Amino acid sequence: MKTIIEPFRIKSVEPLHYTSREERERLLEQAGYNLFLIDAKDILIDLLTDSGTSAMSTAQWAAMMRGDESYAGSESFYRLKRAVQDLTGFRHVIPTHQGRAAERILFHVTCGEGKVVPNNTHFDTTRANVESNGARAVDLPCPASADTQALFPCKGNMDVAALERLIESEGAERIPLVMITVTDNSGGGQPVSLENIEAVRKVASRHGIPLYLDACRFAENAWFIGQREAAYAGWTPKQIAQKMFRLADGCTFSAKKDAFANIGGFLCTNDDRLAELEKDLLILTEGFPTYGGLAGRDLEAIAVGLEEVLDPDYLRYRIASTDYLGRHIAEAGVPIVEPPGGHAIYIDAGRMLPHIPSGRFPGQALAVELYRHAGIRSVEIGSLMFGEKAQHELLRLAIPRRVYTQSHIDYVVEAILEVNARKDAIRGLEIVSEPPFLRHFSARFKTLA
Ligand code: F0G
Repeated sequence: MKTIIEPFRIKSVEPLHYTSREERERLLEQAGYNLFLIDAKDILIDLLTDSGTSAMSTAQWAAMMRGDESYAGSESFYRLKRAVQDLTGFRHVIPTHQGRAAERILFHVTCGEGKVVPNNTHFDTTRANVESNGARAVDLPCPASADTQALFPCKGNMDVAALERLIESEGAERIPLVMITVTDNSGGGQPVSLENIEAVRKVASRHGIPLYLDACRFAENAWFIGQREAAYAGWTPKQIAQKMFRLADGCTFSAKKDAFANIGGFLCTNDDRLAELEKDLLILTEGFPTYGGLAGRDLEAIAVGLEEVLDPDYLRYRIASTDYLGRHIAEAGVPIVEPPGGHAIYIDAGRMLPHIPSGRFPGQALAVELYRHAGIRSVEIGSLMFGEKAQHELLRLAIPRRVYTQSHIDYVVEAILEVNARKDAIRGLEIVSEPPFLRHFSARFKTLA
């Protein structure tokens, strides 16, 4: 059989709430044209993020019932630790309430004025946490990623030659760690090859610099490696993931992505001294090191999720369903970041709306139009999110895990094609107020005539 079906059936449902176009127009105005400021009940299909939005399995819900809520030494922590160590091999596993808490602790203990952190592409919270600790965040994406239309199989790769040049010019002592984000969220959900991780590892090791993974979407990355990197063709996703982690000295992880959890994360390291500093800081702001700001039941959900996500049937369906959305809009002429990513499709809004300059936020204008037209929420990843550092003007359609069926996705395809047919009428936006950092979450806009 050729048809790929959802490898699960539905046991519990959540009704969707319809709104009229007039209601959405009013809601947009009230929200200052920022979709983060619209209530979830007024969204029909929510593709804002794949983070914390997964549907959990019966096995996860069952495991939550045995959550050990002890303050110290809970059984649930040890179950999580075993699951993480089996996967990653890291010596220290420090739970945190989500990915950015792990980032804050890691960069607090390793960064400071004058330090520089290279990454293939920093995610927004990662960059903000590096910078808020006084260091400079440098993106080193591979050259192929500059062209959204290039069909390079592992466009998330780091530019290894640029890394060597950076270490040469800055000096290794100013670089506390090199980070690789898998998959590369800000650059299109593109995978990083094992060959690239190995090459980066070699360069970093030569200079005595530790390598960390921002491992949020490690399972999707492992699936792509198995499909696209000939050397790993016969490997299971778990074997590939284990190899990825064993090339690194530590990782940050948001369990809200590839662990199907609604909250949670962790920080891992093989460095005993660093682990002590990190645990001290954890106690100050997150909680005791055997719960780290989470309930025991959350630790259970993550432990089960980490195993479920590596099921080949799930990953085949997951990547195929993202590809389905991408192919259907790309074949009808909507420019997307090629090839389709793992957790999301990224429309190249700069290319789709060439009449809207960067300073008028084409990605945001498209997000607003898609909501106005069909009640779909998406997110801008471009000049609004990254300011002058934006490489492209993208609109991300992130697909929550195990939540929407093919008919939901068909509705999204139809809506995008209808908006595309009238794209010349879409106008840009102007910011009327914005906070000092991470402005995309709360900036307000006005529409331009
Ligand atoms: N790193 C990457 C690559 C991410 O995509 C995210 C979150 C984080 C770190 C931070 O994790 O949210 O648990 O604190 N990405 C979400 C998104 C928010 O929509 O892409 P967190």
